[in-house]
Amino acid sequence: MSMSKLVPAPSPVERTTLGFAVNDEETTVSFPTYKTLLEVLREELGLTGTKHGCELGECGACTVLLDGAPVLSCLVLAAGCAGSKVTTIEGLAPPGGLHPLQRAFGEHGAAQCGYCTPGMLLTGAALLARDPCPSRQQIRQAIAGNLCRCTGYQQICEAIASVAAAPDAAAPASPPEPKP
Ligand code: FES
Ligand code: FES
Repeated sequence: MSMSKLVPAPSPVERTTLGFAVNDEETTVSFPTYKTLLEVLREELGLTGTKHGCELGECGACTVLLDGAPVLSCLVLAAGCAGSKVTTIEGLAPPGGLHPLQRAFGEHGAAQCGYCTPGMLLTGAALLARDPCPSRQQIRQAIAGNLCRCTGYQQICEAIASVAAAPDAAAPASPPEPKP
């Protein structure tokens, strides 16, 4: 008997077709059922602003908003997102403009290599949407799951705080040096 007869034929990959709203556009997409939301966004829909980092739920680079809440898209099966509203970094800004956080990140030098920036922006936007006046501590807690390898946390916190309305959040990180 030849070896080739012992090798089972590969079974066809199961596919899923679903509809969901991506950046406010009703979208229908067909993909292998095993794919994560991260993979479908990047590989099927070409939305490469969502970054592919650890794929283990540890870095936050893949953060998107699912029905308004930040999720790690590398841990979400796309097949479970039917009817959901997904916001990626491509959908954060209004048409032709910038989201205030994007402007603030530029002004505060909060994006260095920029790999973490889409996830940071979406996490920050979700925080400000549910609490327009977060404290410094709340800002730090909100972005705790978004790792920045360039250690730009100070600038990132400054940028988010500058958009927040709370006097506490907008205050400088440390008190000014007393004048002699
Ligand atoms: S790629 Fe999803 S948490 Fe790192
Ligand atoms: S700016 Fe480089 S990882 Fe954050």
